[in-house]
Amino acid sequence: MTNPFLDDALDLVTATENACARHHNDPAALLEILHDLQEEVGHVPQVILPTIAKALNLSRAEVHGVVSFYHDFHETAGGTVRVQVCRAEACQSMGALDLIERICRRHGVTLGETSADGGITIEPVYCLGNCALSPAAMVNGRPVGRVTEERLDRAIREARA
Ligand code: FES
Repeated sequence: MTNPFLDDALDLVTATENACARHHNDPAALLEILHDLQEEVGHVPQVILPTIAKALNLSRAEVHGVVSFYHDFHETAGGTVRVQVCRAEACQSMGALDLIERICRRHGVTLGETSADGGITIEPVYCLGNCALSPAAMVNGRPVGRVTEERLDRAIREARA
């Protein structure tokens, strides 16, 4: 569960050091540590990457590489509903770019940003491994295939319920 009090840098550093220590500062546990932080803090902000790198004796680039490779990790807190729409080739060929443009316009957000009321974040991802059902999306971690505006609206409503 996300801890709403973890919003200042010192708390974040402490939470990060604790997460690393729980995994004995083992570099092989990097993914588990990132998942723990994502769960506890709600996202994996850039500011904690040097702390992780130092604790695990890795370079910051190595940690950043892992964080940016996996679409499960988010650099920003995001909205109540996080919509990830695939922009990779198979989904592009099925109209993903037009779909992204329409849903961003409809929700009044720019791709990669959160709406002013904090209700929704729409962000791009590159292959969700669901190419057979492209265009593909995820709504709060739940996969949605053969996405249309209507299907996405339904998934967003369900995520808000
Ligand atoms: S290309 Fe979109 S899910 Fe694979």
